[in-house]
Amino acid sequence: SLALYTVPDAAGLGALGASFIEVLVRDRADAVLGLATGSSPLPVYRALAEHELDLSRLRAFALDEYVGLPAGSNQSYAAVIDREVTRPLGLDPDCVAVPDGSAEDPAEAAEAFERRLESAGGVDLQLLGIGHNGHLAFNEPGSPLDSRTRVQRLSETTRRANARFFPSIGEVPQFCITQGLGTIRRAKHLLLLVRGGEKSGILKRALTGPVGVDCPASILQLHPRVTVISDEAAASGL
Ligand code: GLP
Repeated sequence: SLALYTVPDAAGLGALGASFIEVLVRDRADAVLGLATGSSPLPVYRALAEHELDLSRLRAFALDEYVGLPAGSNQSYAAVIDREVTRPLGLDPDCVAVPDGSAEDPAEAAEAFERRLESAGGVDLQLLGIGHNGHLAFNEPGSPLDSRTRVQRLSETTRRANARFFPSIGEVPQFCITQGLGTIRRAKHLLLLVRGGEKSGILKRALTGPVGVDCPASILQLHPRVTVISDEAAASGL
């Protein structure tokens, strides 16, 4: 089933998104939360920080990571998650897993990540954003709908969209490690966060168009429990 909430602005998205995490943690302090990067989930993390919950037993898994950034880069998703999530929310760093994009063998690092996720019992609540081309995590169009955590080449669209976080486009990595669409589909509850009018077309495509590899986010239609929180601009096409 799909529940769609439309909120006026980022503050509304943050407050509602944070309430889903709060309910999860009150039920089970050591629940497994799936973290997303990108700008869409940031208001959720900020709102949650104000709840002053004890999140020290929460376990968290990131969706994706760049491959081959220089050591200590603050553009890595590990650094972003540390800055935006682990520290402000008081998570235990040992309970936060991000695929190791600096591993000598990224393919092996991807497999190790998938194994760790499985041995944690899977994700209870997975936060998601949607890319302009319909990607989920870094599953670009063409990704198999049952794929697992693996190394992927980033599309030019995605590299251009993410260039704003780097000094220049040349510094945006060519590869990443991403949870697969099959990995994401195993989470018990998917929570998609969408902001801005430039996402309205792709959101409509994902939720109402045919399910297919040209729009990875269309797998939301195959999942038994999806919640979408969208601002009015992004929901305008629905
Ligand atoms: C990035 C991330 C995705 C994210 C997407 C949308 O490339 N890998 O996980 O959902 O872009 O980002 P934003 O929320 O900033 O639009």
